[in-house]
Amino acid sequence: MYTVGVITASDKGSKGEREDLSGKVICDIVTEAGYKVLKYMMVPDEKDELEKAMRHMADELHVNLILTTGGTGFSKRDVTPEATISVIEREAPGIAEAIRYNSLQITPKGMLSRGVSGIRGNTLIINMPGSPKAVRETLDYILSPVFHGIQILV
Ligand code: MTE
Repeated sequence: MYTVGVITASDKGSKGEREDLSGKVICDIVTEAGYKVLKYMMVPDEKDELEKAMRHMADELHVNLILTTGGTGFSKRDVTPEATISVIEREAPGIAEAIRYNSLQITPKGMLSRGVSGIRGNTLIINMPGSPKAVRETLDYILSPVFHGIQILV
């Protein structure tokens, strides 16, 4: 069974000021798809903390897949892509392209998500936008090819 780490990047969420619906949606969908969620973290929009969470999940927990939600937009606090770029060893740009392609069929604002995807060791890392709606739409579109990618990676 492949394992997943879920990271929600949210200043408000990490302070307990907002319920993390998007993180829950990810956990529900991937569990339903047959993955095991090994770790779920709510992290403030701080580059070093996001990097640390991703390194922990990849290097210590050895999850097959890290799914992040939030922090991909244009707000000055949105740094999830920058944190991801610092930890990945190889880019997987096709996944980020596919996410934007799919989002653009739904809303032109899909172009505002700066999410990236890449590989660290045996772990695939994928940034998704922040809303529960965007997360659901994105996972519906990418999960099947992503499963194939993980099979090749490990
Ligand atoms: N993608 C999908 N599939 N559905 C959506 O509703 N919202 C967009 C975009 N991608 C959206 C989407 C919006 S409004 C923004 S601002 C960007 O994702 C960035 O989101 P984030 O800042 O929450 O990461």
